[in-house]
Amino acid sequence: MGAYRELVAELDLRCRLETRSAYVYTDDDPESLEAELDAALDLGLPAVLEPVPTSSHLALAFRDQAQFHPREFLLGLAGKFVEAGGLLVENARVTEIEQDGGRSRVETSLGSFHAENVVLATLFPLFDRSLFSLRLKPVQHFGMAFQGPRGQFEGMFIGTNGPSFRSHGDLLVVVGESEEMGHADNAYEKLERQARERLVLGDEVARWSAHDLVTPDGVPFIGTFRPGSSHRFTATGFGGWGITSAMVASCILPDLIADREHPWAELYSPWRSGGVVRQAAEQAATAVQHLVRGKPRCSHMGCALSFNRDDATWDCPCHGSRFDVEGRVLWGPAVEPVEVEGPEGELEGAETRGTP
Ligand SMILES: Cc1cc2nc3c(=O)[nH]c(=O)nc-3n(C[C@H](O)[C@H](O)[C@H](O)COP(=O)(O)OP(=O)(O)OC[C@H]3O[C@@H](n4cnc5c(N)ncnc54)[C@H](O)[C@@H]3O)c2cc1C
Ligand code: FES
Repeated sequence: MGAYRELVAELDLRCRLETRSAYVYTDDDPESLEAELDAALDLGLPAVLEPVPTSSHLALAFRDQAQFHPREFLLGLAGKFVEAGGLLVENARVTEIEQDGGRSRVETSLGSFHAENVVLATLFPLFDRSLFSLRLKPVQHFGMAFQGPRGQFEGMFIGTNGPSFRSHGDLLVVVGESEEMGHADNAYEKLERQARERLVLGDEVARWSAHDLVTPDGVPFIGTFRPGSSHRFTATGFGGWGITSAMVASCILPDLIADREHPWAELYSPWRSGGVVRQAAEQAATAVQHLVRGKPRCSHMGCALSFNRDDATWDCPCHGSRFDVEGRVLWGPAVEPVEVEGPEGELEGAETRGTP
């Protein structure tokens, strides 16, 4: 949080950065929060148990956390990057990266360029055919925004078995219903029902879904793209905490690029040992299971796609690619479109109000 506060002040970014408490609440497992409190206090974190209006149990409150508007933050940061001489290219899909002498040649939909160092910060690392695909599991999140009394809640609320939410002006933003990719079923209806059981909500104003990737031990992968490679890097596997963890990546990667040591590099290394075998086996089983089922197949590594009726998209359960009803790529790691057969039948009764 301190690093974000410093960056926002130094660059004078207008992103509504506010100091707020973060609350973890539960409906049925208060003992787990007491154990979390003990662990947090052992680590010297500013935690305390206190009542919240959404649960009959005490919630675990962390003081002095921060919230900001991520889009405003990114727009401000991008502006400063360009002002400082950086070149930002938008709407260009990277379609291939090849070794060319001592450098990488990056092909994009707008043309190609050479780079000495490449950081693949594309959620799932592009063009991996084995090493990451067995160790990153996609998990889907659904979000909705409702009219609600202005500033109904001070702070950010994370439910262990209910929705997470926070106020944004006179809106309440609610997130939840994590599902394994390709297994969503009436996710928005379930989320809205859970939210209305706890919160005073007006009309719905928006809905969307996104996914993030989870590593076997819950710690992100930040480091080299291959063991021993020194010019290609990645930051991935944020498990829903990529805004917080991006700051960690921004500390480690510059040192690795400059061939310097960093004290956290080993902890976050994609090539550390531990906990990997079980998830690799699960991911391999998922891939095999989806390889033998019907069509259409994902253009990344050929897994069978599931039709997501909530968003009217074709979703890949293996590594998280998503395609629209015409088969165009919405999310990677796929970079090529797919042939989809007869979306009309699948679309009957499906939700088509927005794109994810
Ligand atoms: C509703 C919601 C609330 C959240 N709240 C929090 C929070 O409170 N705290 C927190 O820490 N995290 C939070 N997160 C999680 C956080 O947003 C993610 O973990 C983070 O955005 C992941 O960052 P990323 O850079 O890995 O991937 P992304 O943000 O998905 O960025 C990847 C980028 O790569 C681009 N890309 C992909 N393929 C290609 C290609 N072939 N060519 C060119 N570009 C490509 C994509 O267009 C995209 O811009 C939240 C997420 C959601 C959805
Ligand atoms: S097979 Fe990898 S995303 Fe579909």
